[in-house]
Amino acid sequence: MSIQDKTETNVGLLIVLSLVVVIWGGLAQIVPLFFQNSTTEPVEGLEPYSALRLEGRDIYIREGCVGCHSQMVRPFRAETERYGHYSVAGEYIYDRPFLWGSKRTGPDLQRVGGRYSDDWHRVHLTNPRDVVPESIMPSYPWLAKTKLDASDIQDKMHALNHVAYKAYSAEQIAAAPAELEGKTELDAVVAYLQGLGIQIKVTR
Ligand code: HEC
Repeated sequence: MSIQDKTETNVGLLIVLSLVVVIWGGLAQIVPLFFQNSTTEPVEGLEPYSALRLEGRDIYIREGCVGCHSQMVRPFRAETERYGHYSVAGEYIYDRPFLWGSKRTGPDLQRVGGRYSDDWHRVHLTNPRDVVPESIMPSYPWLAKTKLDASDIQDKMHALNHVAYKAYSAEQIAAAPAELEGKTELDAVVAYLQGLGIQIKVTR
């Protein structure tokens, strides 16, 4: 009886050998990632979120923008032609949690930084139809009217230092409340959007 016949007729042996193959295949894919810097090192020029952008990101989460917008340009021509360079792992180092999203009712926002002026975003977020008449995006008029709540920014930065890289220095944390002084929620969201994906320029 050949080895093949033996494994194909002995269920116990087949299960054991299948497990060995699956485990080996899994390890071969996963273990190298632990040693691959491209997935754990920030891309060139990527900085931890400033206090203002961090607040903007939290408002983006609060308002559910991720329900309609992805932040993940896939490596397909149809996507790179429209949005720019595909996303790479090193761009998300400071994103805790990730906001990749899975639904695109609106366009992907990974490369939206610098695409429009700050003023365009202000008008658009307050009432999208003022700049894009056919838009179905909801209006967020309260962002411009609401002052930022800076009371917990230092706690947030401390927390991120624990879970992410040692992103923030003691000086940055100390300076954070002053950075947010007098700012509105709209200022924060616009700052967040304008910094998205700008480290990797469009290459076609
Ligand atoms: C119900 C779905 C929906 C939600 C929720 C939503 N959007 Fe949109 N968004 C859209 C659609 C559709 C468009 C395309 C039309 C337009 O530009 O208004 C769009 C466009 C945009 C654009 C312009 C993108 C480009 O490349 O032209 C930005 C920036 C944007 N949204 C930001 C946000 C932010 C920030 C939030 C949360 C405060 C948000 N959106 C919430 C549907 C949504």
